[in-house]
Amino acid sequence: MSFDRRIKIAPSILSADFANFGAECRAIEAQGCDWVHVDVMDGHFVPNLTFGPAMCAAIRPHIKGTMDVHLMIAPVDPYIDAFASAGADVITAHLEAGPHIHRTLQAIRGAGCKAGLALNPGTGLDAVAHLLDLLDLVCVMTVNPGFGGQKFIESQVAKVRDLRALIGDRPIHIEIDGGVTPETAPRVAAAGADVLVAGSAVFKGGSVDNPAPYGANIRAIREAAEGALAQTVAAK
Ligand code: DX5
Ligand code: ZN
Repeated sequence: MSFDRRIKIAPSILSADFANFGAECRAIEAQGCDWVHVDVMDGHFVPNLTFGPAMCAAIRPHIKGTMDVHLMIAPVDPYIDAFASAGADVITAHLEAGPHIHRTLQAIRGAGCKAGLALNPGTGLDAVAHLLDLLDLVCVMTVNPGFGGQKFIESQVAKVRDLRALIGDRPIHIEIDGGVTPETAPRVAAAGADVLVAGSAVFKGGSVDNPAPYGANIRAIREAAEGALAQTVAAK
C-alpha cells in the first residue's frame, strides 16, 4: 500500500447483503471504490454484533484492493494476529478499547499491517500527538459506533481540521466514518480527510444483480469531496 492523499472511497459492507458478501465486495470494486471497509463489532465495546476473522478470511479473495478492518472490540490484542492472517491490510483499533494503545499499535505493525487509531466523537486528540510514529491512519468517528445509517455529527469537522494540522506532512491517512454522503463529504474533505467510509450512502438503491447505483453513489461522494478539496487548495 503506497501512501497518497487523493480522496479514497471505502464502502462499509455493514450496509451490504450479509448473505452475499463476496459478490458485494466484487461489485463495489467493479463500481469504482478504492478500499473495502469491514466493521467488526463484539456486542461489548459497541451494542451490536457483526463478524470476526473467519469472515474476513472468506471475503479476502473477493477483494483485489485494500481491506480496511475497523475493530470495535475490547480487548483488541488477542485478535490482531487472526485478522492479519485473514488478510487485513489496515487494522484500526479504538483508543477507548483499552489502556495500552501504544502496545496495540506496535502489535498491529508487528503483524505486518498498517496501524489505525479510531476516536469516538467524545474523544479528543490529546493522545494522538504521542502516537504519531506508530500511526498509518487516524479514523475520526462522525457517528457513535455500532450502527450504519446514523446522522453525521457536525462537531467532528473541527477535530478533522485540528488533526490535519497535527499530522503535517507525515504519511498518515485521515479516515472519516459515519454519516458520509455527497452532502457531508465536502466538509470533511475540505478539513483534510482523504479516506471516506460510507455504508448506507453507497449501498442504497442497488444490489449485486443491479450494481450500477453503487457506482453512481460512489461517484457522487467522490465528486463532492474532490470539488471541495479543489476549492480549498485554490483558495490557499
Ligand atoms: C459504524 C461503522 C461505520 C458504518 C457507516 O460503527 O463503523 O463504518 O457502517 O455507515 P453509514 O455510512 O451508513 O453511516
Ligand atoms: Zn467503520
